[in-house]
Amino acid sequence: MVTDHFLKSRKIGFLGAGNMGQSIIKGLLATGFPAHQLYATTRTEAKGVKIKKMYGINIFNNNEELIDDCDIIVLGVKPQDLYEVIEPLSKIFTSSHIVISLAAGIEIRTLQNWLVDVRDIVRVMPNTAIKINESVIGYCLGPQAGSIQSTIEALFEPMGCVVRAEEGEAFQALTVGCSSGIGFVFELMKYWQSWIEDHGFSEQEAQNMVVKTFLGASKLATSQSETSIDELQKKVVSKKGVTYSGLTAMRELEIEGLLRISFEKAALRDTQLGKVQPSN
Ligand SMILES: NC(=O)c1ccc[n+]([C@@H]2O[C@H](COP(=O)([O-])OP(=O)(O)OC[C@H]3O[C@@H](n4cnc5c(N)ncnc54)[C@H](OP(=O)(O)O)[C@@H]3O)[C@@H](O)[C@H]2O)c1
Repeated sequence: MVTDHFLKSRKIGFLGAGNMGQSIIKGLLATGFPAHQLYATTRTEAKGVKIKKMYGINIFNNNEELIDDCDIIVLGVKPQDLYEVIEPLSKIFTSSHIVISLAAGIEIRTLQNWLVDVRDIVRVMPNTAIKINESVIGYCLGPQAGSIQSTIEALFEPMGCVVRAEEGEAFQALTVGCSSGIGFVFELMKYWQSWIEDHGFSEQEAQNMVVKTFLGASKLATSQSETSIDELQKKVVSKKGVTYSGLTAMRELEIEGLLRISFEKAALRDTQLGKVQPSN
């Protein structure tokens, strides 16, 4: 349900509607945002036709029309394509647009240099659970942005937990931990499943068992949010028991250190994605 007065009459245009753009479109529609206020463009015409059929939203055949017609523009193309796509369009953007960039790595000052007339630039970092309204949605505002915080929060709150973060280290940690994080959790789930399968369960049985285990842990933590994860874990562990033995091995093998290295590598890639684009 859209509660923000400003949003009620606004047109939102998705410049690029692939995995993430469509996830947000689905999320918005599920929260009651009217389809006739949603617009999108894609690179290939066939994709646009498919999106129109699937979601009943409007499709423009070119980005110029989308920018001209919409109040809020969501930049949903890949970070490595973003400069090439928006540079020729930069003059069409005006100071009345709100621009929401989903692009990993690309900083607000870079976007500001590309879109000189736009004041309200926001970086938003959701994860794919936005499709089911269970996302962590990070955002940061540019230094020139007006009072759009409540609009951004009203737009995304129905789709999950909205977190404002300072651009830089905090926003990057949110990107790695919560957006890429979904991919990392699936990686762990694959190891779990494979081990269970190796011990006599079918692929489907093993997948269900793993999913329920992760879901159970998440729901337990959600239901007791005042209890730390450390405390919750202690309730599973009895000295010299089965879980204790497994956890001791995990700690001796320094799994935390390995994960930290992986997170740092992902953070480095986030930084690199921002650097491949001309910033002025
Ligand atoms: N996927 C995630 O989990 C995730 C999470 C957080 C943030 N993001 C960010 O979201 C953005 C999009 O990622 P994605 O995974 O959704 O990518 P994607 O699935 O490849 O979607 C990219 C979209 O951009 C369109 N496009 C490319 N060039 C275009 C142009 N010139 N004009 C109009 N549309 C154009 C593509 O059209 P066609 O379909 O016709 O090729 C496609 O619809 C990225 O910046 C990424 O960093 C993604």
